[in-house]
Amino acid sequence: MNKRKILVPLGDKSYEVTLEAGILNNISEELLKIGITKNRKILVISNEEISNLYGEKFLNNLKDNKFQAKMFLIKAGESYKNLKTLSEIYDVAFEFGLDRNSIIIALGGGIVGDVSGFAAATWLRGIEYIQIPTTLLSMVDSSVGGKTGVNHPKGKNLIGAFNQPKAVFIDPETLKSLPKREFSAGMAEVIKYGVIRDKKLFEYLEIEKNKHELINLKNEYLIKIIDFSIKTKSHIVSQDEHENGVRAILNYGHSFGHVIENLCGYGKFLHGEAISIGMNIAGKIAIEKGLWSKEELERQQILLESYDLPTEIPKINKEEVLTILMGDKKVRDGKMRFILPKEIGAVDIYDDVDDALFLKFFS
Ligand SMILES: NC(=O)c1ccc[n+]([C@@H]2O[C@H](COP(=O)([O-])OP(=O)(O)OC[C@H]3O[C@@H](n4cnc5c(N)ncnc54)[C@H](O)[C@@H]3O)[C@@H](O)[C@H]2O)c1
Ligand SMILES: [Zn+2]
Repeated sequence: MNKRKILVPLGDKSYEVTLEAGILNNISEELLKIGITKNRKILVISNEEISNLYGEKFLNNLKDNKFQAKMFLIKAGESYKNLKTLSEIYDVAFEFGLDRNSIIIALGGGIVGDVSGFAAATWLRGIEYIQIPTTLLSMVDSSVGGKTGVNHPKGKNLIGAFNQPKAVFIDPETLKSLPKREFSAGMAEVIKYGVIRDKKLFEYLEIEKNKHELINLKNEYLIKIIDFSIKTKSHIVSQDEHENGVRAILNYGHSFGHVIENLCGYGKFLHGEAISIGMNIAGKIAIEKGLWSKEELERQQILLESYDLPTEIPKINKEEVLTILMGDKKVRDGKMRFILPKEIGAVDIYDDVDDALFLKFFS
């Protein structure tokens, strides 16, 4: 099976994403290739679910190759992406004797990746870490770009750091065990890349044969869309690592997505599902503003639905929508910013959307 490498160009923080089916079985070899020598301690962070599927084999591969590795399992779920879990990781890091030369490996979805990356950013003022994402969402989104962190009781991702990984290894084989609903949620972010920057990706996803092969998890097709997605993310992040400008377009669909996640209760919709509805709302606003065509909005909706994503706007109260939007981190200088499409493959950032224009979509 062929291997693909994508460079994330960030000066002295540049790194490569390696994509290959079965790469998890050769992880020791891959680590040696990027200069992780056997005298460096490795703390692998995962959760029980993922560890039962891949962890033991993964750890044995490291141990058989004489790496000094230990695995620590955090609890699964957004409610454990917090300071308490982080503190438990520090305890293990201390006991295991993780020093400045040691390395953390995140083996799991976005939650494992975000917490591990932040632990690596802060332990001994920063040690290296590697991302091995195992959900579609973490493969195409959270493992690349260096946003790491945990939640505060008052809000998601309020505590964190920009911390780029040393490398990312992606094995599409791991998607075979992922629940279908989680796979679809990841597809929302893939479709997002199509709308914001990559018309070719969007058109690729529309082709029936490709859809069929993707839903049936054919590696060749998965690798293609992960590759497309990471290239787009990498290109945007390398222009604006700390989200002072263009990186904000990655938040397409996310303002309303957060409203939906918040007001419908975390757990009702997965992140990707909320983003799918959020993209539909952003698209409708773009139509109202005369920016986008109805035909393209319809294509977006059909594509989202064909990957089993919801697009229907749930009934939520206007006042509450406003409160959440105003509290959103994306509000700067008191102005709400929205990412709106102009055509498939191109969006812009607008801060001149009247409240009335979007509130009409809520009850
Ligand atoms: N850092 C970023 O740039 C960024 C971007 C997007 C999202 N995020 C964060 O990512 C998190 C969501 O990540 P996620 O969607 O990957 O969810 P997740 O990490 O919760 O994983 C989803 C579920 O799938 C299970 N799982 C993971 N891999 C599996 C596999 N291969 N087979 C079977 N089960 C598997 C997990 O145990 C979990 O129960 C959120 O906390 C979000 O804030 C971060
Ligand atoms: Zn997202």
